[in-house]
Amino acid sequence: MIMADVAPDPGRPSAPMLSDRILACLKAPGGGDETGLEHIDGALRCPETGAVYPFVEGIPSLYTGTEGDGRDVTDRVKSFYEEHPFPSYEGLEDFGELVAKGSRNPFSANLLKAIGYNKVVLECGCGTGQLTHFLQLNNNHVLGIDLSLGSLKLAVEHKVRNDLVRSGFAQMNIFDLAVKDNAFDVVIAHGVLHHTFDARRAFGHIVRKIKPGGVVMVGLYNRYARVATRIRSHLIGVLGPKIDYVVRTRIHDPRKAEIWIKHQYHNPHETWHSLDEVLGWFGDNGVEYLNCSPPILGTGGEDAPVLFDETDPGTAYQRVITQLSWIGTIAREGALFDIVGRKTG
Ligand SMILES: C[S@@+](CC[C@H](N)C(=O)[O-])C[C@H]1O[C@@H](n2cnc3c(N)ncnc32)[C@H](O)[C@@H]1O
Repeated sequence: MIMADVAPDPGRPSAPMLSDRILACLKAPGGGDETGLEHIDGALRCPETGAVYPFVEGIPSLYTGTEGDGRDVTDRVKSFYEEHPFPSYEGLEDFGELVAKGSRNPFSANLLKAIGYNKVVLECGCGTGQLTHFLQLNNNHVLGIDLSLGSLKLAVEHKVRNDLVRSGFAQMNIFDLAVKDNAFDVVIAHGVLHHTFDARRAFGHIVRKIKPGGVVMVGLYNRYARVATRIRSHLIGVLGPKIDYVVRTRIHDPRKAEIWIKHQYHNPHETWHSLDEVLGWFGDNGVEYLNCSPPILGTGGEDAPVLFDETDPGTAYQRVITQLSWIGTIAREGALFDIVGRKTG
């Protein structure tokens, strides 16, 4: 069951930027888990050190850039998403409409069901924050972080306009999260890690933030299925945006179509990943496999009603066949697969 928020009461003070449950999960940027943060006027403050972190353009900012090898990629990806916030709202200004849309979408509806009630959730690379807002239903508290202030501004606008209490946002870099270790029940990075300079390393950073027994879900471009996008990227200049299945069948707003095309075919950085590669990341980080969407063919995943159900990962042969089959299915929609695991230690 989905519980919608009550309508805002004009006499009630507006929702704090970050709820107390989210605030309790934060630490000072670069600091240890013994540091915390509190709200002060237009800023966050660390009571232990006295350091003040002013909001930037109205957004809590705990961002530090990437040092060393990854700096160039992080900077280019940041500039891209500052200019092209994704996925953007485009008319979806009302929270009720957002809930209706999320509930009709089998993936987000199943994800909310899998998360359950009263959970603390971290969404890394939340973009413009629609999923963060949707998942705060059922009394969940959800922190969305992203490096793009342009995206976060749209997310916070929606929060303020709809007086949403349990979704909160902050500018952060996945490689330096101002978040305590073992703090969240669920950590999600949907369509994000493949835009970082080292997806495997980014995965290690986000897993640290999950409580033992908590769940991680990552959505990544598939190594087999994404080839179709690469081929289309060479043809799109000549044949036009209608060669993209999503533009042809689902997106009716021209501005939204433009954002999708930019994101799919002109992204400054992306990497592709296979099921076995991610299972390797799981093994390296003390995560056991739970499920995959779309499911691995010939495994219990095909019949699992809930996304976080425990299923078996199949054999290497089944995983190859599954990924080959994705060339005929998810390849036309961007080739994103989501894989779910549980942190054991
Ligand atoms: C394709 S968008 C995905 C947005 C959203 N998760 C979705 O599924 O619609 C990728 C997002 O990841 C963010 N991102 C990329 N690298 C990041 C990093 N190192 N730290 C935080 N966010 C990052 C980008 O700014 C962008 O908003």
